[in-house]
Amino acid sequence: MAKSENIVWHDSQVMKEHRRKLNNHKSAVVWFTGLSGSGKSTISVALEKELYQMGVRTYRLDGDNIRHGLNKNLGFSPEDRKENIRRIGEVSKLMVDAGLLTLSAFISPYREDRDDVRSLLGDHEFIEVFVDASVETCESRDPKGLYKKARAGEIKGFTGIDAPYEAPVNPEITVDTDKQSLAESVAEIVAYLKGQGYLE
Ligand code: PPS
Repeated sequence: MAKSENIVWHDSQVMKEHRRKLNNHKSAVVWFTGLSGSGKSTISVALEKELYQMGVRTYRLDGDNIRHGLNKNLGFSPEDRKENIRRIGEVSKLMVDAGLLTLSAFISPYREDRDDVRSLLGDHEFIEVFVDASVETCESRDPKGLYKKARAGEIKGFTGIDAPYEAPVNPEITVDTDKQSLAESVAEIVAYLKGQGYLE
């Protein structure tokens, strides 16, 4: 992709650190990765509500929603998924710069693409949450009927069926939605954020 020439970065006088100070908490991206139906959206929605009640400034980015707007020109080929995650990574970075605790929930099946987002952000600004559930569990939940369609051959390249999912090797947090309740998963993430000093 071509990079425009003759463009010069223009610094602000109000910086990320100032915004963090006003907010009284650190900013970072909590990046949820996992299969379709693993619980990424459900957990991020519940976590956002909990953080809001604690007075934390948040913003949530979610696969289905972003693909209605910013990324509506992208499909599910490996190249399009890479571009999807690259753009979300850049948007997440802007949100972190804006001082927000950003919750990004995308299948993000490729390790390299997630690691690229990690590299884009500063130290301790990328918190990878592996939302772990077996394909069998996700398929039995099938909240949108997509696994059924994938098995019937109506959707090609469906993650976990005929497209790969590369689980994180060393995520900051793993929530096992085969075994844990929603409340337990949310509590685990809040405990991490408090323990690591993201929240005052
Ligand atoms: S990715 O892989 O990170 O680019 O995907 P993402 O942007 O998170 O979008 C995933 C949602 O798109 C729906 N969907 C599919 N998922 C996987 N594979 C294929 N082929 C596919 N086609 C449509 C599906 O509803 C995903 O939502 P979630 O919330 O993960 O179930």
